[in-house]
Amino acid sequence: MNGAEPAPPDMCRLPEVHLLSRPVDMYRVYVAGILVQLTGCDPAVAYNAVQAATTLPKGDLTIPVPRLRIKGKKPDEVCADLAARFPEAHPLFVKPAPTGIHLPIYLQPRSLIQYLLPYLFERNEQYGHDRADGEDNKKRVLVEFSSPNIAKEFHAGHLRSTIIGAFIANLYASMGWDVVKINYLGDWGKQFGLLAVGWQRYGSEDELAREPLRHLLDVYARINSDFKPEQDASKAARDKGEDTAAIESNGLFAERNAFFRRMEDGDEEALALWKRFRDISIDRYTATYARLNIAFDEYAGESQVKAETVKAVEKLLVDKGVYEEDNGSWLIDFGKHGSKALGVAVVRGRTGTTTYLLRDVAAVLERETKYHFDKMVYVVSSEQDLYFQRIFKVLQLIGRDDLAQRVQHVNFGKVMGMSSRLGNVKLLSDILDQTANAMHDVMRRNQTKYAQVPDPEGVADTVGIAAVMVQDMTGKRINNYPFDITRMTSFEGDTGPYLQYCHARLCSILRKAGLSRGELRSYILEDGGATATATLAPDLKTSHCVDLFRLMAQYPDVTGMALKNLEPSTILTYLFRLTHQLSSAYDVLQVVGAASHEIMVARAVVYESARQVLENGMRLLGLTPVER
Ligand code: ARG
Repeated sequence: MNGAEPAPPDMCRLPEVHLLSRPVDMYRVYVAGILVQLTGCDPAVAYNAVQAATTLPKGDLTIPVPRLRIKGKKPDEVCADLAARFPEAHPLFVKPAPTGIHLPIYLQPRSLIQYLLPYLFERNEQYGHDRADGEDNKKRVLVEFSSPNIAKEFHAGHLRSTIIGAFIANLYASMGWDVVKINYLGDWGKQFGLLAVGWQRYGSEDELAREPLRHLLDVYARINSDFKPEQDASKAARDKGEDTAAIESNGLFAERNAFFRRMEDGDEEALALWKRFRDISIDRYTATYARLNIAFDEYAGESQVKAETVKAVEKLLVDKGVYEEDNGSWLIDFGKHGSKALGVAVVRGRTGTTTYLLRDVAAVLERETKYHFDKMVYVVSSEQDLYFQRIFKVLQLIGRDDLAQRVQHVNFGKVMGMSSRLGNVKLLSDILDQTANAMHDVMRRNQTKYAQVPDPEGVADTVGIAAVMVQDMTGKRINNYPFDITRMTSFEGDTGPYLQYCHARLCSILRKAGLSRGELRSYILEDGGATATATLAPDLKTSHCVDLFRLMAQYPDVTGMALKNLEPSTILTYLFRLTHQLSSAYDVLQVVGAASHEIMVARAVVYESARQVLENGMRLLGLTPVER
C-alpha cells in the first residue's frame, strides 16, 4: 500500500475491529489512522468516529467531526481543515470535500474492487457471516420461538414468531454462536381436560389418522361451544359476587377439572391420551416447519416443566417474601417491589395449580441448568410485553438478577386481516398452502415464462413462502401490517417474488454466458482478481459497477447491525437496495453482448458476486433462493 499511513497496530486490536470478516473495517482502520495523524486524537475515539454513510451519494464512510471530541475549535472548521490536509492521491481514498461538520469518505473504486473480489470469492457463503471466533469460545444462545398451542389455531402471532425467530436463530448461528432452537408448546392446562372430554364425545380414530391437527381443532371447537353456556353462567355468577362452586362442580366443568386433575396427579391413562395428542401434533408441526427450513432442537412446552423446579421457585418466593396470599392463591403485587407498572399477577391458583407465569419462571431455571446459556431470546408478540417484564422482574426478586440480564423478549406487532383474506386458515400448513396457490395463479398468468419452470408446484411453494416471509420482515418488527395477498405475491415492488426473480435472473446470466461458478472462482483466486479489475477499468467510469461493489462491501456491516437490533428488516432493506442497484446495471453492464470474451467474464464476476451476497442474505432470512 504505497503511500498509505501505517494503520496503528493498537487500533487493529480494538474489539470492534473485524478485519477478517468485515472488509470495510480495513478502511476504517486506515481512515482512523489518518485522523490520529492529523489531529492527535485517541485511536479508539478516531476509530469509533468513523461511521457508515447512510446512502451511497453521501459516501462510503463519514466522520461526524464532533465525535472526534476536539476541544476549542468549531467542528465545521476542523472538518474543512481535515479535508484540506487529507493525503492527496491516497491509494484507498478519494480526497474528501467537507460538508458542514461531516467529512464524507469515498473509497477508491479500483482498489476497492481488487480488494473485495478475492475477499468475497474466498468466503462465498461465509461472506458477511462471522465465524472468526472459532469453536473454543463459542457463546450459546437459546432462541425460543413459534410456540403454538396444541388443539388451538396457529394464528398470525405464531406465524410471525416462527418467521422472526428462525431469522434470529440463523443470524446467531451465522455469526458463530452455538444456537439452541426451542419450541415452547402450549400443551398443559385445563383446556386439555376439556379436549379429553371432547375426544370421548366427538373423537374419531379415522379422522385423527387422516388429518390429526384439524381433527383436534375440530373436537376442541365443538366441546368448547358445548362448554360455553356453563362458562358464561359461571362468569355471570362471579360478576354478581355469587359463589361459582355450585356451577363448577357440575356438568362439563366437573368433567374437565376431573380429567385435568388426573393429568396433574400423574394418572397413566390420562397422560397417555394427552401424550398421544402432543406427539401427533409435534410430528405434523415438524413436517410443516421443514417447508420453512426450520428444525427445532427441542420441543419443550408448559407440560415439560418439572414439578420439583416449580416447588423450588415457590420456595424462593416464600423465602424472599415476594408473594402474598389471597384466598388461597398466591399473588405478586409488583408495586410493593418498586414496579407499579407491572401491576398484580397471580402465580399460583387457589388449589395449588401452577400458572403460565410460574411455569415460565421455572422453565428459565431449568434451561439455565441444562444449557448454561449466555443469552436467551423469546420471540413473542408485543401483546405479551407486560407478561415478559413480569417474568424478568420475578427473576430479579428471587435473587437471579444475573439471569434476568441474559434474557430478552424480542417482540413484534400484529398482522391485520389474515383470516379474512385467506379464508378459513387455522393451521400453519393452511397459510402456506393458500399462499402457494395464490402464487401459482400469479405465475400462470405469464404462460411463456410458466412453461420454462421445471417444477411449477415446487417453485410456487418456495416463492409463495418467500412472499409471506418478505411481507412479514419488510417493516420494523414492532409495526403492525395488513396481510395483503395481492401485493405480496406480485413480482413488482419490494416483495418476496421480486427477490426470487432477481436471484433467478442472476443465475440465468451465468447460464447464458456458459460460465460456471467454479470457473469464475478460479479466475479470481488465480491472480487475486488483478485481471478482472484491470478488465473492468473502463466500466468504472460510470457508477453502475462501482456502486454495486460499494454496496457489496457493506453487507458484513449490515449483518453486524442486525445482530445488534435483531431486525430482519435491516437485512431485507439492504437486499432491496442491492437488487435495485442491479436492475439499473443490467442494460449498461451487459454480459452476453459484451465487446469481448474477457469483458464478458469480468462482468460475469460482478454479477456472480452480487448473486452470492443476495443468496447469503436470503438464506439468513430463511428463504430458499430459486435458480429459475
Ligand atoms: N404458547 C404461547 C401463546 O400461544 C406463547 C408462548 C410464549 N413463550 C413463553 N415462554 N411464554 O401465546
